[in-house]
Amino acid sequence: MRILITAGPTHEPIDAVRYIGNRSGGQMGAALAAAALAANHAVTLILGPVSVPFPPGATRIDIQTAQQMHDAVLREFPNHDLLIMAAAVADYRPKLASAEKIARKGNLTIDCEATPDILAHASQLKRPDQRTVGFSLEAPGQLDRAREKLLRKKLDMIVYNPIQTMDSPAIQATLLYPDGRSESLPAAAKTEFAPLLLQRALALFT
Ligand code: CTP
Repeated sequence: MRILITAGPTHEPIDAVRYIGNRSGGQMGAALAAAALAANHAVTLILGPVSVPFPPGATRIDIQTAQQMHDAVLREFPNHDLLIMAAAVADYRPKLASAEKIARKGNLTIDCEATPDILAHASQLKRPDQRTVGFSLEAPGQLDRAREKLLRKKLDMIVYNPIQTMDSPAIQATLLYPDGRSESLPAAAKTEFAPLLLQRALALFT
């Protein structure tokens, strides 16, 4: 199986030295890549700007922005069977990034626009032999929001997990499927959770 995994945050430039980002540490994606390599799958990891211990054996593509992740995913997806988007993609980016460092002068308003929805675009291009899996980081009790994303982005599975998961070594997740099925997995270290999730993702092909 050829597996494409995204991990980490994206950074959206405000000026020469500043950006909009988030606390994602890339641990979930790195654990998934390690689990997939251990099971002898071919892995491509598209990694945001984060220094996570990188599993040797995977092809690594470094990106900074949501647009760069978008372009890399759409370029690579046709050569893969499975896409798992564990990255915490910035939802907004400044409309115009200043090439200079912005000097302090009173208040600053940054005009932002939505970033492209990478998963939704990849799912639009999905062939019958391909599968897409997303993550949904939500406040507790927001299972309905995760289910809405699963359907809107035409995913084969979504991993609903609480906001505390970000930047944490542990995860407690519920897997949701388009046919209404769901499965709650016990809280575990991300390194223990990754092989379980991979197993569920591979079962999407049967
Ligand atoms: N995602 C993506 N492209 C984006 C934003 C998110 O591909 N521009 C992916 C994430 O990697 C994740 C899934 O979509 O696998 C859900 O991310 P989330 O930020 O929760 O989704 P949004 O559609 O941005 O929803 P929200 O309204 O909660 O921000």
